[in-house]
Amino acid sequence: MKPPQNPGRILIADDQADVLEALRLLLKGEGFAIEPATSPAALLSALEARDFDVVLMDLNYTRDTTSGQEGLDLLSAIQAIDSMVPVVVMTAWGSVELAVEAMRRGARDFIQKPWDNARLMSIIRTQMELSAALRQGQRLEAENKLLRAENRPAMIAESPAMQPVLQLIARVGPSDANVLITGEPGTGKEVVARTLYAVSNRANRPMVTLNAGGLAEGVFESELFGHVKGAFTDAKVDRVGRFELADGGTLFLDEIANVPVNLQSKLLRVLEIGEMERVGSSKTRRVDARVISATNANLTEEVAAGRFRQDLLFRLNTIEIHLPPLRERREDIPLLANHFLVTHARRYRKALQGFDPPAVKALIENPWQGNVRELNHVVERAVLMAQERMVRPGDLALRAGSQASGRLEDMSLEEVEAFLIKKALARYNSNVSHAANALGLSRSALYRRLQRYGL
Ligand SMILES: Nc1ncnc2c1ncn2[C@@H]1O[C@H](COP(=O)(O)OP(=O)(O)OP(=O)(O)O)[C@@H](O)[C@H]1O
Ligand SMILES: [Mg+2]
Repeated sequence: MKPPQNPGRILIADDQADVLEALRLLLKGEGFAIEPATSPAALLSALEARDFDVVLMDLNYTRDTTSGQEGLDLLSAIQAIDSMVPVVVMTAWGSVELAVEAMRRGARDFIQKPWDNARLMSIIRTQMELSAALRQGQRLEAENKLLRAENRPAMIAESPAMQPVLQLIARVGPSDANVLITGEPGTGKEVVARTLYAVSNRANRPMVTLNAGGLAEGVFESELFGHVKGAFTDAKVDRVGRFELADGGTLFLDEIANVPVNLQSKLLRVLEIGEMERVGSSKTRRVDARVISATNANLTEEVAAGRFRQDLLFRLNTIEIHLPPLRERREDIPLLANHFLVTHARRYRKALQGFDPPAVKALIENPWQGNVRELNHVVERAVLMAQERMVRPGDLALRAGSQASGRLEDMSLEEVEAFLIKKALARYNSNVSHAANALGLSRSALYRRLQRYGL
C-alpha cells in the first residue's frame, strides 16, 4: 500500500461566503484540495484535526471588521497548533501596514483584495514547496539521528535447520506483510529483520528501530507516537515519534513482548487503520509503515497470561519466522566462528589463521545457551587471548561458567551474576520471562544484563 499522492491541502478562512467560493473555485481548478472555514474558531478546529500545506486567511472577521486585530491574534493561535504550516494573509486594499505587521508575527506572505489570480497562485505554489521542504527537513533531521547507515548484514545460514528461514525471507521480504521474528536470545532476530528490510521494496526508505526492552514505561508512548510541546512537563518542543519517522518505510519493533498492555490497543489501531495521534494532540495523522517485530518471549503464553493482546498478536504475525537455537544448527558453527574470527582479527589487528581442530570440536560441542551472540563473544575473547596463529581450545575459555558452581567465592560479583543468569536460562529453556521471574528481575532488567554479559 503506497500513500496516495498528496495534491496539496489548503485551508481557507474568510467570513464572506462569496470570497470563499471564488477562492475555492480558483484553487480547486488548479488541483488543490480545499477546506473552507468561515470563522477563526472553524479555522483552528480544522487545523487541530488535520494537516494542511498552506493556510490562506483573511485578517478581518465579523467581530471587528477593520483593525485586523482578530486576524493577528489568530496568527499566534495557528502557530501554537502547527508551527510549520505557512500562513498567507489577505488584507484590504491599501492596508500594507497591517500586512507588514502580520509578516512580523509569522505570516509568510500576504495578498491584497481584490487579488490578482496569477499572483495568488504564484504565492500559494511557493509556500507549498517551502512547506514540503521544511517538513521533509524536520523529518530528515530526526531520521539522521536514528539511522545507522548499515546495509544488508552478513547472515550465515547453511545448515538444514536454517533453510526454511531463508525461504521465508526470500518469499515475504519483498512484500509489505508484517513479520514477527521469534527465537531464543542471540539467535539472530535482528539480523533477520535487517535482511528482510534490505530485500524489501522499501529498502530505499528508512528502517526505524524501537527496542521495547530498554524503555521505561512512561516514555514509551511518546517514543512510538511522538508528542507535542507541552504534552507533559519535559515536552519542551514537538517531537516526531518512531511511527511517523517510519512513514513510507519500515518500523522494527524489537522485544515486542515488552510493550505495556495499555499501549497495545493504540499500537493495534495504527496497525489496523494507519492512524495515530502524537501525545498531547488530538490531531489524527496517517502513517504507512511496514512493521517487523521480534521477541524471544512465547507470545502465545503471554496472551494466555493476559499480558499481550491476542488481536495485536494476529496483526503482527501475518508471517512468523522462527529462528532455531544454535544447538539445532551446529553445521553453521564453524562458518560463524570463522566469520567472527576474521572480523575481530581485523579489528584487533591480529594475524590469525583460524581454529585448530580440537578448538573447532570444542566449539561444535558447546551447549551455546546464548546462541550466536555468545559464540561471537567467545571468539572475540579468543582472538584477544590467542598467542599463536591458530586459536586453541584453551583460548576459548568455554567451560568457565558451567563448572564454576563450587567456587562462587573465587568469582567476581559480575561473574556470579552472569553464572546465575545462565543457570536460570538453562532451567527455563531460555524463556526470558520465566528466568526473570525466578531471578526476581523485571524482563527489561534481565535483558540489559543479557546484553551486558553477552549471553
Ligand atoms: N546467521 C548469522 N550470521 C552472522 N552473524 C549472526 C547471525 N545470527 C546472529 N549473528 C550475530 O550474532 C549477534 C546476535 O544477533 P542478533 O542481535 O540478531 O540476535 P537477537 O536474536 O536479536 O538477540 P536478542 O534476543 O538478544 O535481541 C550479532 O552480533 C549478529 O550479528
Ligand atoms: Mg535482538
